[in-house]
Amino acid sequence: MAAILDHHVALQQAYSEFVRQYPAYLDTVKLDALRASEFSRLDEQGHVYLDYTGGGLYADRQLTDHMKLLQRGVFGNPHSSNPTSMAATELDESARRFVLEYFNASPDEYVIIFTQNASGALKLIGESYPFAPGDRYVLTFDNHNSVNGMREFARARGASVHYIPVLPPDLCADEAVLQQLLDETLPGQKTLFAFPAQSNFSGVQHPLEWIGLAQAQGWDVLLDAAAFAPTNPLDLSIWKPDFVDLSFYKIFGYPTGIGCLIAHKDKLARLHRPWFAGGTITIASVQGDGYYLAEGERGFEDGTINYLNIPAVEIGLRFIQSVGIDAIHTRVMALAGWLIDQLMGMNHTTGKPLVRLYGPANTDQRGGTVTINLFDPDGKVFDFRDVESAANDRNISLRTGCFCNPGAGEVANNLSAEDMRACFQQEERMSFEEFLLVMDGRSPGAVRASLGIASNFSDVYQFVEFARSFLDRAAE
Ligand SMILES: Cc1ncc(COP(=O)(O)O)c(C=O)c1O
Repeated sequence: MAAILDHHVALQQAYSEFVRQYPAYLDTVKLDALRASEFSRLDEQGHVYLDYTGGGLYADRQLTDHMKLLQRGVFGNPHSSNPTSMAATELDESARRFVLEYFNASPDEYVIIFTQNASGALKLIGESYPFAPGDRYVLTFDNHNSVNGMREFARARGASVHYIPVLPPDLCADEAVLQQLLDETLPGQKTLFAFPAQSNFSGVQHPLEWIGLAQAQGWDVLLDAAAFAPTNPLDLSIWKPDFVDLSFYKIFGYPTGIGCLIAHKDKLARLHRPWFAGGTITIASVQGDGYYLAEGERGFEDGTINYLNIPAVEIGLRFIQSVGIDAIHTRVMALAGWLIDQLMGMNHTTGKPLVRLYGPANTDQRGGTVTINLFDPDGKVFDFRDVESAANDRNISLRTGCFCNPGAGEVANNLSAEDMRACFQQEERMSFEEFLLVMDGRSPGAVRASLGIASNFSDVYQFVEFARSFLDRAAE
């Protein structure tokens, strides 16, 4: 009882100090009420949820609104003229329009292609971008693997692949290399530049000004907004990338299984799909051995769309809009700022720092994804798997490893190209255990805490106390 009381008093004191340092947080207290009404299961079950970059959380209201909608109507497979099919088509088209509206994207300029997730959107571009020998695919080191993976499509068609390094300690990109690569284009070359608006490894936010800069030099630009969109406004009337990918579950938790590609109409028209499927053609013939692909989004949505869940995308986005993405952003950044201050201030009694932060050590040029490793007084790293396991014991949901973002992890952990090439010498597929052996105790992994719509001060406070429990301990 006394311990609980002590914890409560310490939490209150820390909160008072926090709001003194980050007074903007007080403008977002309506989100505390929202946590109590729409996300009450978090506190009822004692969860400290810090994995919003892995997956967002849904409000109770989204579920009930969706279920009511399904219970009230009769919905058939869309794209037919029967009444139940029309009812589904109407809802899906309404969701499509609303996604454009939410991102302030003009329907004259952009179309929404529903996909299974962000990776599905990226694969559509990878397989359809008309790469040819001599063309270029340029991307930053800190891309998610689904953006990295597009290099295999580029290479298979003879294009060259170039990476822009990110530099420690803040893991921002080397803009001199970026500028050099953007400058190196030849007439007639097709060039695609891809970068994350926010790195899912370090939380770094790359300048959106790069979009216009690259386009002015003839590049097509793919903006990966999967980790950015959940806690930042993305206004496509200001920023006009050619392609944007995202996953809706990362923004509002439910439903999973739907993402989208937001594509500029002119650029979409230049993509060549490698196949056709049900739903993507106007006419196809067996005996005539031909087909015509449908125009616009229809040519890119293979088979039956997720027609009963797509209406829940509109419900989710309307919910976020009612809360206000600016309020979510303000809150998340205040919490992230305090979290970083606290982590950076923790030293063992020897004076050695406990925490190494990957990404900017302030709230400039970053989002609310905070990635670290913990080190013991001798400078030995705590294995991220042990950190996660200790967090699990406290009901804290973190994410550890390299988060499908190997490039940022390699730079953060000082692993060279030579180190990494050693893992790809053998013909047989290497197991993760063998990988760890080759890495000789080093690893591109880290510990990630990420914040979102239902985060509160208690969440970050408990994470800080958790990190504090590693002070003056030896890593095994
Ligand atoms: C920046 C970024 N891009 C792409 C993806 C891929 O998203 P999904 O797994 O939903 O396809 C993720 C997922 O974490 C991400 O964080």
